[in-house]
Amino acid sequence: MQKVVVLLVVGFLGLGGVAAFLGMGGQTTEADLSASFDLAKGEAIYAQSCAACHGENLEGQADWRSPGANGRMPAPPHDETGHTWHHSDEVLFAYTKLGGTELMAQRGIDFDSGMPGFEGQLTDQEIWNVLAYIKSTWPEDVRARQAQNNQ
Ligand code: HEC
Repeated sequence: MQKVVVLLVVGFLGLGGVAAFLGMGGQTTEADLSASFDLAKGEAIYAQSCAACHGENLEGQADWRSPGANGRMPAPPHDETGHTWHHSDEVLFAYTKLGGTELMAQRGIDFDSGMPGFEGQLTDQEIWNVLAYIKSTWPEDVRARQAQNNQ
């Protein structure tokens, strides 16, 4: 089922389709993924680097809204039931590249996060690919709402 959705999205994504897919009104920033990205590669990276915590089907960990015994928050779902889509692309990118602890530290917040940073492990392009894959699984209205957060 998920494969079908991804194929549909890939088919839909002509160069001109990118803006429509992202629900953007023509405004482009680096963060809106309008550069080249590869959903198939993104899916493979997701399976390899993210699924262990965020779930094979992006479902997240059980009881992800409550801190675990170690005081850290569990991994949230990346599907539309989570809050990934509440964040702008820029935040999602920084979260993935730096990890939760480092990102918050840069903002002066002391926070113990279970989200590791992938800097050095994934290239920037690979991070965009995996984020594009995650976004490609969202229904259109959720993508549109998330796109508004990018502006
Ligand atoms: C070792 C487990 C682990 C792995 C592997 C992991 N994450 Fe996370 N991730 C977490 C946890 C735990 C959180 C919530 C942490 C927090 O509250 O700071 C999180 C949060 C996030 C967030 C921000 C919150 C949100 O609403 O989405 C993003 C974005 C994210 N992860 C993306 C990724 C991506 C992309 C990958 C694969 C490249 C990945 N994660 C791999 C554990 C993991």
